[in-house]
Amino acid sequence: MKQLKNWDNKTWLASTKYISSFHKFLKSKTKFNKNTKILDIGCGRANIISFLHKKYQFKEKPIGVDIIKNDNTKKNIIFKKVDAIEFLKKNDKCFDIILVKQTIHFFSKRKIITLINLCKKRLNKRGTFFIFSLKRKNNQIPSFQLMKKKLNQSLRKDEQILSLIKKNLKKFENKKFKYKATVEKKDYIKMIKKRYISCLITLSKKEILEGINEIEIKFNSLIKFEDILECVIYRR
Ligand SMILES: C[S@@+](CC[C@H](N)C(=O)[O-])C[C@H]1O[C@@H](n2cnc3c(N)ncnc32)[C@H](O)[C@@H]1O
Repeated sequence: MKQLKNWDNKTWLASTKYISSFHKFLKSKTKFNKNTKILDIGCGRANIISFLHKKYQFKEKPIGVDIIKNDNTKKNIIFKKVDAIEFLKKNDKCFDIILVKQTIHFFSKRKIITLINLCKKRLNKRGTFFIFSLKRKNNQIPSFQLMKKKLNQSLRKDEQILSLIKKNLKKFENKKFKYKATVEKKDYIKMIKKRYISCLITLSKKEILEGINEIEIKFNSLIKFEDILECVIYRR
């Protein structure tokens, strides 16, 4: 599978406003203190756990695992370049918070079950396990036609993934994280060129360029939309 390299690089997802708002959401669902131990699976540049560590100065640095190490990965956390399942199998350390944000769809169904079970095992008593994925119905991600088609295919797969997760977790809470995103059209076009989202990874250069032409016509110079994530929360 082709890899996602330009996910949150200089986009609203890396902005302090987005991360602060994400932190507010987490804080409304779990408690943080100096002793909190955090694992972020598929952490990307580790912007989220880096922010949390700056804020709470945890006794143990949060751990972020990802199969890709981006150049500007945050330095104030422990980063492991490794497959998440491999990491969880080899380490018996337990965590108070395990985050899987916009990453679960990278795993096969069989691996998702393994991942979920390992995360449950590695969760401390009263720990919280969060799984975030894109909102599936009426998703507002600014798209061109082919991108929308691919996105919808991926969201249909997410639907199946989610029922698999819920079946496995048995007890869970469903919540939504909503963020009002604003992005300049010229910056959004750069993001598309860099294939910032997984539904763009397999498109050809020609398809991307045609898509950009569509975006130029379809959107105003400032693009506004609501970035909504569905969240499944499991507590031990
Ligand atoms: C869409 S990004 C999300 C990054 C981050 N969680 C966020 O929300 O900003 C998905 C990340 O999952 C990582 N990933 C994919 N498969 C993985 C695996 N098997 N083990 C660890 N990380 C993986 C990708 O490399 C990518 O950085």
